[in-house]
Amino acid sequence: MSFNPIASRRLWGNSTSVLRSASSSWRLNTPRSCGLATVVPPVTQDATGAKGPTAMVFMNMGGPSTTNEVHDFLSRLFSDGDLIPLGRLQSYMGPLIARRRTPKIQQQYSDIGGGSPIRKWSEYQCEEMCKILDQISPETAPHKPYVAFRYAAPLTETMYAQLLKDGFGNGKGGRAVAFTQYPQYSCSTTGSSLNELWKWRNRLEGKNADGEVDAAGAIKWSVIDRWPTHAGLVEAFAQNIEAQLKTYPEDKRDSVVLLFSAHSLPMSVVNRGDPYPAEVAATVHAVMKRLNFSNPYRLCWQSQVGPSAWLGAQTSDTVMNYVNRGHTDLVLVPIAFTSDHIETLYELDLEVMHEANSPGVKRAESLNGNPTFIRALADIAHEHLQEGESCSAQMTLRCQGCRSERCLEQKKFFAGERSHLVQ
Ligand code: FES
Repeated sequence: MSFNPIASRRLWGNSTSVLRSASSSWRLNTPRSCGLATVVPPVTQDATGAKGPTAMVFMNMGGPSTTNEVHDFLSRLFSDGDLIPLGRLQSYMGPLIARRRTPKIQQQYSDIGGGSPIRKWSEYQCEEMCKILDQISPETAPHKPYVAFRYAAPLTETMYAQLLKDGFGNGKGGRAVAFTQYPQYSCSTTGSSLNELWKWRNRLEGKNADGEVDAAGAIKWSVIDRWPTHAGLVEAFAQNIEAQLKTYPEDKRDSVVLLFSAHSLPMSVVNRGDPYPAEVAATVHAVMKRLNFSNPYRLCWQSQVGPSAWLGAQTSDTVMNYVNRGHTDLVLVPIAFTSDHIETLYELDLEVMHEANSPGVKRAESLNGNPTFIRALADIAHEHLQEGESCSAQMTLRCQGCRSERCLEQKKFFAGERSHLVQ
């Protein structure tokens, strides 16, 4: 693995170091350094052997690594009705919107260094997590890292083909864990990634032309579908907030407003009963509890596109309103992303903070290569592997307003022994 996170921060980021020492009891278990990851060699399954090897698949939206990839990324994104519902016109409108927006978005990626760092961070986080898992869960080792993005390389189908090539499935069985990198569940994010994974599973492991899968010898999937209040996640966020608060004079520190910012959702998705707003709020509350509610705070929502109604208040409006009222010391906290990408490096750092034009408006570091965070990922995965559950109980319940047959079938598949609960 050639990725160097320090060099990457110089290239991509503009925020402070995340490699800081630990002090809480949770943090005492955190390795001091992640080091550089090594690529795990291909594995061959032996259905009669031990519980390992285990494929650990990080799912996320992804982003274009170069400006040349922007159009294809946007085209997939706007064609995804799970993320941006455009109704019957989706297949026509999606590519059209993508074409129109490409030059502007290419410029934005150019302004943050030429592309999104999400692939580099995702591969780094997954490989480092697997190293820890090999130590704390030897019974399921070796753990092999994979990344599957919804809208950019490596796409789900590429990841799945690699799994088969590496000796999983194809009659050999083997275990794979789909680990969402959206801590808070939404049908438009994690749900969309699972729909895609289910689709490619049926296509690539289909025994017959109709896509029917021979279950014996196919990959056995389980899902880590949400982890909004995990203690390690909360600790990593809290550490980054505390580090930024320390940059303010002591006599002003307690009055700094913490503005938690998450990607917004169309109100049609919210009103369908999507669990995301409540889960994001749960993360915010857990982080504030860890901070002993030391500062005033609000949750706001960013990155709305198009004319339809989206969940607010908008992050940019919130910052301007507070600054105009005299709250000129604000810390923006990206609370639903696990690494930097355009929403932090461009939208928050170059747009919102620039428009605020106040030196007191700052941003907390993203999680990126934070060892506390990577240790949390390993603990979440370890717990999942030990429990042996196919997914959380919460994933078996569909949204109140869901009418999607695809949601239904996908959930039945991933719910495994709980599939009878999915209605
Ligand atoms: Fe949420 Fe289908 S839209 S379960």
